[in-house]
Amino acid sequence: MRLLVTGGAGFIGSAFIRMELSRKNGAKPEILNFDKLTYAGNLENLASVAEDSCYRFVHGDIGDAQLVIDLIEETRPDVIVNFAAESHVDRSILSPSPVFETNLGGTFTLLEAARRHKTPRFVHVSTDEVYGSIATPYEANEDFPLRPSSPYSASKAGSDLLALSYFTTYKMPVMVTRASNNYGPYQFPEKLIPLMISNAIEDKPLPIYGDGMQIRDWLYVDDHCRAIQAVIQRGRAGEIYNIGGNRALPNREVVHKILAALGKPESLMHRVTDRPGHDRRYALSSDKIMRETGWRPQVEFERGLLTTIEWYRANPSWIAHVKSGEYQSYYERNYAGR
Ligand code: NAD
Ligand code: DAU
Repeated sequence: MRLLVTGGAGFIGSAFIRMELSRKNGAKPEILNFDKLTYAGNLENLASVAEDSCYRFVHGDIGDAQLVIDLIEETRPDVIVNFAAESHVDRSILSPSPVFETNLGGTFTLLEAARRHKTPRFVHVSTDEVYGSIATPYEANEDFPLRPSSPYSASKAGSDLLALSYFTTYKMPVMVTRASNNYGPYQFPEKLIPLMISNAIEDKPLPIYGDGMQIRDWLYVDDHCRAIQAVIQRGRAGEIYNIGGNRALPNREVVHKILAALGKPESLMHRVTDRPGHDRRYALSSDKIMRETGWRPQVEFERGLLTTIEWYRANPSWIAHVKSGEYQSYYERNYAGR
């Protein structure tokens, strides 16, 4: 099996590659990781597999049509898994163009190249944010209306519809996955859980947007990767699969758990101005993927959170490295004056 993984140097893509390459020899795929190495792409995340003979890295942009076509022609992948994206809501609010260039434009370029080469399977990795805020007590299933609130989620909703249109129009075997909030090792510390862990370790203030009672459903990154494997193996072309962690919590409760685990005071929590257009509640039904593929989330939140906290504690140099350079100016732009 030959896999072309885009965005494989990021948080979820790198976890997926490490998981695939941990298979026993006969079952191990050949993986080409194609990544632009934006601020969020980090080859340190793949240090453990860098020398694996089944792994290869190519530096590039999914929006670079000629490069993408050449790559697919040369490698003839059996499956393309498209993780590549600008993945952060706050950054998309501060500066919207990159999400449209990569999430929409880049996905289009990739779909076109895959169509030309008749790639047998194309998994487009998307998000529950496309459904927007969900009123209590409802859960979004795959037929729920799309009501994206941010430039990020709008770009993902657009890319989902584009990918699905390639199935309807060209019979291209596309599948779309929509996962809830991921957490785990190697996540860039702009997202809630790693930001709170790394600030708390350094006794810095923990910025809570608004009242902190927004609800997110938490999914351990390895559970997400196993769900994508299940969709590759048993998913049906043209279908959408929600992937939830079945663990909805208000942000404040998540932060309380982090502080308690680190033995840090609650006084570190600081309420700051809310995110514009902030979705109040995400809630997802994963019945379809469970029914059709047998996948289930395996990692209970408290256990996954402790593993994650331990990982950040044990890897101060990784944190220091990703927080150097561009991170400081982003942090200033997002939090100053809030
Ligand atoms: P990330 O920001 O950690 O990584 C994104 C990766 O994509 C980086 O390695 C980056 O260098 C690469 N990239 C960005 N633009 C590119 C381009 N034009 N060409 C090639 N590579 C490019 O993101 P993540 O959290 O790992 O998310 C991966 C995917 O999963 C995204 O599509 C995201 O929308 C989706 N998703 C994320 C979550 C979450 O909670 N993090 C939940 C559901 C879905
Ligand atoms: O739901 C899936 C989505 O989850 C993915 O598609 C996105 O790629 C991923 O970034 C994530 O989006 P969120 O906006 O939900 O994640 P974030 O970690 O940025 O924020 C989670 C919640 O925490 C949200 O309600 C905003 C809040 N928050 C976040 C930050 C960074 C704070 O209160 N303070 C903060 O400093």
